[in-house]
Amino acid sequence: MLSILEAARWAPSSKNEQPWRYIVFTKDNPEKLMEAQSVLLESNVYAKRAPILICAIAKKNYSEGEKYNRLHFHDLGAANENMFLEAFNQGLIMHEMGGFDVQRAIEVFHIPDDFEIGIMIAIGYQDKHSVLPERFREKAFSPTRKEEALRDSIYRRNWEKSGMISVIASESMCLVTDRVKDKTIVELDCKPNRIGFLP
Ligand SMILES: Cc1cc2nc3c(=O)[nH]c(=O)nc-3n(C[C@H](O)[C@H](O)[C@H](O)COP(=O)(O)O)c2cc1C
Repeated sequence: MLSILEAARWAPSSKNEQPWRYIVFTKDNPEKLMEAQSVLLESNVYAKRAPILICAIAKKNYSEGEKYNRLHFHDLGAANENMFLEAFNQGLIMHEMGGFDVQRAIEVFHIPDDFEIGIMIAIGYQDKHSVLPERFREKAFSPTRKEEALRDSIYRRNWEKSGMISVIASESMCLVTDRVKDKTIVELDCKPNRIGFLP
């Protein structure tokens, strides 16, 4: 668990503010763990089987001058993603949940006003889907991810659709072409799941 929290600590943050804070609930303190479970919405009841629940929180202002830090949630997300990667590195499953009673969590966890709750996180080992309540099984077996095509989330020059690029990937080569100029921008030797930096 420490290496997962340590991974969060190394995330980049605006002005190195490191605005993330985590409340960790474990089976060591079953009463507190039950309190954390109690804020989860019905749609996340399956996470009550997890031995670890975490509340991820971000400090809203910069320490210096107490100015509002509009990037506090961005940086919390970066820290969470580090934890994700380290949890998988440890052979664990980490699941992020926005489906919880935020107001109740603020009260139960005594979150001060200058902090904002982000998500709840469940950490544990992958279990068999058969342990899931019937109503969750269908979702568990159905593929959750429908990735947007790369070309649908990247623009060149500005927000105009016409400025978009297209990526034609083959086993070993990625051709990035500019749809307007119909010009190859860059050729990348593409190892599967290798993302190239676009000019
Ligand atoms: C901020 C955030 C909140 C999420 N909230 C929930 C949630 O409340 N319940 C849930 O089952 N999954 C939740 N998810 C998981 C997403 O549904 C999941 O990441 C997405 O469908 C992609 O699937 P994958 O992560 O399994 O690839 C959340 C993910 C994020 C990043």
